[in-house]
Amino acid sequence: MLYPLINDPFSINDPDRSVSKLVSKPIPLPSNGSIAANNLPAPAFDDPKHHLRLYHGDCLEILAAIPPNSVDLVFADPPYFLSNGGITCHAGKMVSVHKGDWDKSRGPDGNHEFNLQWLAACQRVLKPNGSIWVSGTAHVIHSVGFALQQLGFKLLNDISWVKPNPPPNLSCRYFTHATETIIWAAKDKKSRHTFNYKLMKETNRGKQMKSVWEIRPPESWEKRFGKHPTQKPVALLERILLASTNEGDLVLDPFAGSGTTALAAIRTKRIFRGIEIDPKWIRVSVERIKEDGNGQLQIQRAAQSEQQVLRLTARAAV
Ligand SMILES: C[S@@+](CC[C@H](N)C(=O)[O-])C[C@H]1O[C@@H](n2cnc3c(N)ncnc32)[C@H](O)[C@@H]1O
Repeated sequence: MLYPLINDPFSINDPDRSVSKLVSKPIPLPSNGSIAANNLPAPAFDDPKHHLRLYHGDCLEILAAIPPNSVDLVFADPPYFLSNGGITCHAGKMVSVHKGDWDKSRGPDGNHEFNLQWLAACQRVLKPNGSIWVSGTAHVIHSVGFALQQLGFKLLNDISWVKPNPPPNLSCRYFTHATETIIWAAKDKKSRHTFNYKLMKETNRGKQMKSVWEIRPPESWEKRFGKHPTQKPVALLERILLASTNEGDLVLDPFAGSGTTALAAIRTKRIFRGIEIDPKWIRVSVERIKEDGNGQLQIQRAAQSEQQVLRLTARAAV
């Protein structure tokens, strides 16, 4: 056992379904019969050894069945709304941007409405001192930031995640996109959020860690079970979890994709709950979790960059 078992907070019934008045279409109550009121569906994947569950479905419905005030940290990598017929460069070739139907824009108002809905749903399930991280490009991150403010979250940081080798901009009419923003916010103004300041300083060679993080995109070994079009590097998620949670905390990812946050949770000994609408990515997540979950860090492969060496060193200290 890596850390003490806790009572599973998701098994508690939830009488409170109030959401902010700002959300014009409230979070749907599970009325279609797929999810009984106040009850989570059976997880698509349950790994009790690592305190990890994956739920298949729409995060708005599944979040509605999670008890309020039960989650320490949310990491969310939501649809960016950028699959709208544009072009990009992938592996040196011009390709159209189509990450999936889930990534199509609903128009500025529709996109913002969706962001308000899922952010309100996450705010409800966060503990009073819980916090949320949301990643995104310019297509979505301004709406996310505004929605966080409208809902009364307390903005803590906006991290610039710098990708050292970005693809070239083929149109030559813009700077090549080399960053994503990751907003970190606490549940509300009164929250006393967790920040492992000392650990972050240690991992940054004794200097305060800045809000600019240079981390390589996922390595090829991270994609060996399937290439998710917007997969995040495990190194990025490990830093986020180490910075803002403690061992045994409960981490939720409502857009779990290929399971990157799940892997980081296993490696850092956090409890994990993930939600993903596409079964294909649940399958990829399960493959990754099964291989990685045996606790054998692939140190030789992982330690390919200075940041990763520092990260692994830091991990040994927790
Ligand atoms: C940006 S990707 C997340 C990628 C993930 N961070 C990773 O490293 O693999 C967003 C994911 O959310 C899923 N998704 C989109 N809408 C959803 C919804 N309403 N509920 C649950 N999952 C959703 C998509 O299928 C996609 O896999």
